[in-house]
Amino acid sequence: MPRVAMLYDVARLEEKMLAAELRGRAELELVHLPSQPLRLGEPPGGGVDAALVRAISLYRAVSSAAVAESWGAAVVNPPVPLMAAGDKLLTQALLERRGIPTPRALVAYTPEAAVEAAGELGYPVVFKPTVGSWGRLAALAGDGEAVRSIAEHREALGGPYKVHYLQEYVRKPGRDLRVICVGGRAVAAAYRVSPGGWLTNAARGARSIPARLDGEAEELAVGACEAVGVEVAGVDLVEDPERGYLVLEVNGVPEFKSLTSATGVNVAASIAEHVVWRARV
Ligand SMILES: Nc1ncnc2c1ncn2[C@@H]1O[C@H](COP(=O)(O)OP(=O)(O)O)[C@@H](O)[C@H]1O
Ligand SMILES: [Mg+2]
Repeated sequence: MPRVAMLYDVARLEEKMLAAELRGRAELELVHLPSQPLRLGEPPGGGVDAALVRAISLYRAVSSAAVAESWGAAVVNPPVPLMAAGDKLLTQALLERRGIPTPRALVAYTPEAAVEAAGELGYPVVFKPTVGSWGRLAALAGDGEAVRSIAEHREALGGPYKVHYLQEYVRKPGRDLRVICVGGRAVAAAYRVSPGGWLTNAARGARSIPARLDGEAEELAVGACEAVGVEVAGVDLVEDPERGYLVLEVNGVPEFKSLTSATGVNVAASIAEHVVWRARV
């Protein structure tokens, strides 16, 4: 049996489903990151063929993926693609380069330049951190005063927040499309419908309803994963009334609990199969 490690920090329902699916297919080593140090070049249990990275925090995910690579394991997802997926600006740059449609975006390094960028994009404008999830700290700014104030607050937060990433506001139909991709294939899709407000994150109360995957959405989601280099991901697409689907982000450690219960697709089994296949090749 192949040996597979799952690196995680919080055992959410997703991690429990993944562990159950992996157990039937591999010799599973559960590595709870907060409990013990990881040794570079020294795999746990004497050897690991593949590692599945499920840490919630981006830096825990990227660093533990890097350590797993030092063990000689096939890592899903590898550290550099995880970093590229975890930073929305890095992701969007890779998508643009490949010609995948995205919302128009500008980057600014001072509050003044952020106001200029917003004026170019038009109001309201989306002002979100390059790193983060669940819609946290994402703002919809109505005018230049709001943009300046948000930029000043971000500068006070420091670190990655000092990179001002502004996007055109896409007038989507109160929902977005989440597509789960595994090993170059779209395996499940659901609309996330907002209860009101512009954020459609499940963490913000959005409901998942099953979606029929059309060829265009599938092609864009799979292309986005290839552009970023991830093997397993949740890709967020929004529908622009004129341009059609635009890719918003690629989640390298995707949540899939509500999508699984909405669609009945066993996402955990698809991921487990892929990881075990990577352990074998
Ligand atoms: N440019 C945009 N236009 C319209 N809605 C957006 C835009 N960017 C983000 N959103 C909304 O905000 C939600 C969160 O944004 P997203 O980029 O997916 O970041 P995260 O989910 O990591 O917080 C999206 O699901 C979408 O509903
Ligand atoms: Mg999202």
